[in-house]
Amino acid sequence: MVKGKFITFEGCEGSGKSTQIRLLSQYLDSKNIPYITTREPGGSAISEQIRKIILDGGNMEMCDECEALLYAASRIQHIRDTVLPALNEGKLVICDRFIDSSLAYQGEARGLGTEYIASVNERALKICPPDLTVFLDIPPDRAFGRKHGADENDRMEKQGLEFHMRVYAGYKRLSGITPRICAVECGGTKFETAENIVALLKEKGIID
Ligand SMILES: Nc1ncnc2c1ncn2[C@@H]1O[C@H](COP(=O)(O)OP(=O)(O)OP(=O)(O)O)[C@@H](O)[C@H]1O
Ligand SMILES: [Mg+2]
Repeated sequence: MVKGKFITFEGCEGSGKSTQIRLLSQYLDSKNIPYITTREPGGSAISEQIRKIILDGGNMEMCDECEALLYAASRIQHIRDTVLPALNEGKLVICDRFIDSSLAYQGEARGLGTEYIASVNERALKICPPDLTVFLDIPPDRAFGRKHGADENDRMEKQGLEFHMRVYAGYKRLSGITPRICAVECGGTKFETAENIVALLKEKGIID
């Protein structure tokens, strides 16, 4: 059985992950390439319930370790329920956020350290390492402008710009030391970025 490829999209809030996944889906449809799209946290029934707890704007007293472990818990269930079955069917799996979000947000921006985050996600990464990670490289101040500000009900988006700058710095550092993570310049139009992403997927042998 040919196993499918696993690609993940990363970047700050409003960097264009959802937009680019939608445009890539249209491209894959036009080429009849079988794929699924999914997202973190969530992407399966139990993981979506965990997502609600993590992002609930009423849970401001959640400690950083609890947050990190909930993301890890959501991730492993999502892998078992959604990602692995699709990969085993030979599909391309496109995931909106994955382990690098935990490394950048909880490891770097929250200050828990990337070693701790890597350790609680060790099995996830062992079972399901991404073949390629697309990092949409745009700083949060520019990305936020596109989104017209943060969602007041989202606990992560309620963090200030300084927090999101630390997330961005974390992503930059990770993409510099992790060959699987490819930074895509996305200062142009969303269609230009989409073309860059298709070219990258071809270059890396993810699609023909
Ligand atoms: N290249 C672009 N130029 C201008 N606007 C863009 C571009 N790409 C995306 N946008 C706009 O920026 C906003 C944020 O994009 P999107 O929702 O895809 O980001 P996201 O990374 O999925 O955000 P979130 O982390 O909140 O899910 C949207 O309004 C989208 O239409
Ligand atoms: Mg999105």
